[in-house]
Formats: sequence, C-alpha cells, structure tokens
Amino acid sequence: MRTAYRRILRYVPRYRLPLLLGALCVIGSRLLMVYAPRLLGEALNALERGGEASVDQAIGLGWVFLGVSLVAGVFTYLMRVFLVGTSRRAARDLQRDLFAHVESLPARFFDRTRTGDLLARMTSDVEAVRFSLGPGLMYVGSTLVLFPLAVISMVDLAPSLTLAALGPLLAIMVVVRLLGPGIMRRTRSVQEAIGDLSARAQESFAGARVVRAYATEPVEESAFGQENEGLVRETLGLANFRALLTGSLYVLGGGANLVVLWYGGNQVISGELGLGYLATFMLYVGMLIWPMISVGWVVSALQRSAAAMERIDEIFDRPAETSVATEPAVVPELTRGAIRVSNLTFQHEASARPALEGVSFEIEAGSTCALVGPVGAGKSTLLSLLTREYEPPSGAIALDDVDITSIPLQRLRSAFAVVPQDAFLFSTTLHANLEYAVDGELTAARAREVLRIAGLDEELTGFPKGLDTVVGERGLQLSGGQKQRTTVARALLREAPVLLLDDCLSAVDTQTEARILDALREAMRRRTAIVVAHRLSTVRDANLIVVLDAGRVVEMGTHADLVKAGGWYAETYAEQRLEAELEGLA
Ligand SMILES: Nc1ncnc2c1ncn2[C@@H]1O[C@H](COP(=O)(O)OP(=O)(O)OP(=O)(O)O)[C@@H](O)[C@H]1O
Ligand SMILES: [Mg+2]
Repeated sequence: MRTAYRRILRYVPRYRLPLLLGALCVIGSRLLMVYAPRLLGEALNALERGGEASVDQAIGLGWVFLGVSLVAGVFTYLMRVFLVGTSRRAARDLQRDLFAHVESLPARFFDRTRTGDLLARMTSDVEAVRFSLGPGLMYVGSTLVLFPLAVISMVDLAPSLTLAALGPLLAIMVVVRLLGPGIMRRTRSVQEAIGDLSARAQESFAGARVVRAYATEPVEESAFGQENEGLVRETLGLANFRALLTGSLYVLGGGANLVVLWYGGNQVISGELGLGYLATFMLYVGMLIWPMISVGWVVSALQRSAAAMERIDEIFDRPAETSVATEPAVVPELTRGAIRVSNLTFQHEASARPALEGVSFEIEAGSTCALVGPVGAGKSTLLSLLTREYEPPSGAIALDDVDITSIPLQRLRSAFAVVPQDAFLFSTTLHANLEYAVDGELTAARAREVLRIAGLDEELTGFPKGLDTVVGERGLQLSGGQKQRTTVARALLREAPVLLLDDCLSAVDTQTEARILDALREAMRRRTAIVVAHRLSTVRDANLIVVLDAGRVVEMGTHADLVKAGGWYAETYAEQRLEAELEGLA
C-alpha cells in the first residue's frame, strides 16, 4: 500500500499552505464544536435553577452559543474548501501527468491496451484515489481531533456516564467494520456491471453499420438487456445491503441515546449531574455517531483506492519511448533525406514470425522509392520503423548517414511528413485538421492550395461551410477517399525532407489517382519520397521499386528492370493492366 501511494505523495509539498490551513481549520472547528454543547448545558442548568436572572443568563449563553456555532461553521466551510479543493487540484495534476505519460508511451503499448480500460484508469481510478485521500482523510482527521476532545469533555462532566455512552458508539464502529467489506464488494460489482454495460453499448454503437447490415439489432438488444439486468441486480443488492446498514445504525444510535438517558437520568435524579449536562451528553453522542461510521467507511475506501492507485501505477511504470538508444554522434541537420536500410530484421511483439527479414536497400536524397508487394508483406512495418514508431535495431537504418536510433526522436520525426495507411482525422474543422501539421497559423489560401494538390478542391466547394466544415464524429462524414486525400494535404503542409505515403490513394479511382499523382510530383521533386501502393501503375515512374514478400526483398530495380525480370512485379503489372483495359472496354 505504501508504494502505491508514494506517487501521490509527491503532489503534497506544492499544496503545503492550503493543507496546513485546512488542518488548522479542522482543529479550530472541532474545538468549538466540542465547546458549544457545554454552553447549551450551562444554559439549561440555569433555567432549571429558575428565576429571572437565570433566564437572562440562559439567553446570554444562547447568544454565545450562536456565536461559537457560527465560527465553527465558518471553520468547517474553510476546511472543506482547503482540503477538498486541494484534493481536486492534486487529482488534476495526477491526471495531467498520467495523460502526458500515456502520450509518451511507444506504439507497442497501444497495440496491447484497450482504450476503454485506459479511460477507466484515467477517470474513475483517479477519482477513487482523490476521494479517499481528500474527503476521506479529512473525515479521519477531524474524527481524530473530535473524538478525544469530546471524550475529555465528557469525562470532565461525568466519567461513569462516559463509559456507558461509549459502549454503543464502539458497537457502531464494529458494525460498520463488519458490514463494510460487504458494501465494498457490492460496490465493486456495481462498478463492474456499469463498465460491462457501457462497453457493450459502446461496441454496439461503434459497430452500428455492421449491426444494421446483418440485421442483428435484436441480438444486440438482448445482449444489452442482459447486461442491464445484471446491473439492476447488483444495484439492488447494494441498495438492500446499504438499507440494512443504515437501519442498524439508527437502532444503535437510538440505543446509545437510551443508555445515556437511562444511566444519566438516574444520575440527574440522584443530583450527581445537572439536567443541562445530560442534554450536553446527548449532543456529544449525536456528534460522535457519524465519525464512528465514517472511520469504518474511510478504511474501506482507502483499501479500494490503494487498488486504484496500483492500476494507475501500472501505467506510470511503463517506460516512455526512448529518445536516443545509442549516444548521438554530433546531432546532424537532417535536410537531405537520404535513407539506407541495411540487413533490417524486425518482429512485432505479438507476432510469431518476423515482419521483416534481412531487408537492405538505399534511397538517394530527393528520389522517389516505391514499396510494393502482397498484403502483409511488411510495407507499413518498414515505414513505421523509419520514424521509430516501433524501435528498429540500432545500425539497421540510417538517415543522411546517421543511425536513426542515435537521433533524438523529436528531431527524427520532424524529418518526415507521414500519410499513414488508416486515414485518421480529428473531429474538428477541416482547417484545424490541416493546421495540425504546421507550427503557427495556416492561411486559408495555403489550405486551399494543398487541398487542390491532393485533389479535394472540387468537393470542397460542396462542403456546407468550406474549410470550416466540421468533419468526423461531430460533423460531416467524409468518404474513405476524401479522408485519404485530406491526410495527404495535411502531410504536404509539413516542411520535411522525407515524405512517406502508405497506400494513401487506395480509395480513389485510377483517373483521380493519376491526376493527384501529377499534382504531387512537384511536391515530391523537392523531397525524398517513399510510396507504398498496390496499384503498380502508380509507381511506374519511381527511381527505385522495392518488392517485398513475407518480409523479404524479392526484387528491386526500376520499372523497366522489373518488367524485364519477369517476377512477381511483371506478373502483377500485366494482370493489373489487363484488368484496366477490360474495364476500359466495358
Ligand atoms: N502491431 C502489430 N503487432 C503484431 N503484428 C503486426 C503488427 N503490425 C503488423 N503486424 C504483422 O506484421 C506483418 C506485416 O504487416 P504490415 O502491416 O507491415 O504489412 P503491409 O505490407 O503493410 O500489408 P498491407 O498491404 O495489407 O497494408 C503482418 O503479418 C502483420 O500481421
Ligand atoms: Mg500496410
């Protein structure tokens, strides 16, 4: 448990002042809270004595009581402001650090992590930790101050009555401790049921198209219905158990008051105790019931949040991407964009066989290289190794003659403009999506220019708000081809010596592709480009064509070389040409 909390303790020093003030407020408010019932007792004692002077005295004491209560109230308010406020701020710090850490994690972390699980750790686990350490410890702290003060005051008034009253109060604590684990278990079941229900709904909504296409709405509904039933069952179980606990506490509280009334009543009758002080006692008993309950609660809440903290720690313990694997030589200016791959072998963590094996080739600065080959040949993997999305073995890839594992990540990545295979856009305006690629502001004219190069200019005029059209989940749904071309435009805005295009025009027709490639040629002339394509006509003009198959380079050369060689490339090219001609005839 201690290790789990060590991380959160780091956030304490910066909130020293509010924590100190909060602690002072706890002490101040509890002192006054314990003092106030004595005033009331005195007032009642005065009334019992009777006479006009006593009434005046009682009223005077009543005013003091009011004043003390008021100050105690202000202290209690400030205590919550300082302590609960601090817990919220510390939780924010924790959440922010957690987010930053997740952002820094390597691609292979995301390969094996469910987003839903990650979100739960960032939100409900952080909240569990915050609750137990903020409000939770506040309750414990105030009880630790209140309890001895109240007991001292009670002993001062009537020692034996104190003993009689504490019995039932301790019984309350025992009951809460006994029932506490049951409550916690049921609370956890409810949270799991909520998690299952939302996961079910989320998947069903995300797959809405598939559900509709297969007309499986009834299946989805019944699955959801089942999860929903489960949630109701767990929730009712928890509610019943809580009701049992609350009921028992009422009975025990009543019992405590009865004991005080009976035992104290006898003392009043025998003249040992003033009637007013009996009332004081009963106020103390009332005051101590809740802290007794809360201590039991908080102990359980702390246990739960220790588990939450461990789940959070599991993420923090994952090492961030390493910026440099081997000591950098002199950190170079990466401007030319020459790439050399030598004997590169790489295997994904979750994979049984290497995605690339002994791959070697060289790309001259400013030239265009095409990567082609059947599905699963390792083309995307090769591109992701160039930008060190996955970490290549050191010495296997060089950019401008520098081993890329010795180039700081930031600098390495700034050398590439990437269009990944799965076109991802943020759910915001088209303009904001493009601006993502530039430092500073993007003018509308420049945005239109790159959209024209990417072949999206005509469609743009049809978008309801032009560049300010919101795309994605919250707005206009773009077609696959439109999305691809937007990501091409975004990459064009990035001033980088190397352009990586991963099958980025697969969703447009041949004519459109040819048109876009013509427009892109200008941009590619100034940079090194690596183009992955399935349609071989796309890459005919490339300076070098590398054919990958099952992770190995099987052919390499210019279009003319490869057609002459008569291998996979020549066959596939002939097939694709035939298909195109047949389409043309039809
Ligand atoms: N993140 C990953 N984890 C485990 N295995 C992976 C991962 N990414 C790719 N692979 C595996 O590596 C091999 C190469 O995949 P890759 O995506 O590089 O192929 P590709 O040539 O880009 O295929 P396509 O033309 O279909 O895009 C495949 O066998 C694939 O299953
Ligand atoms: Mg691919």
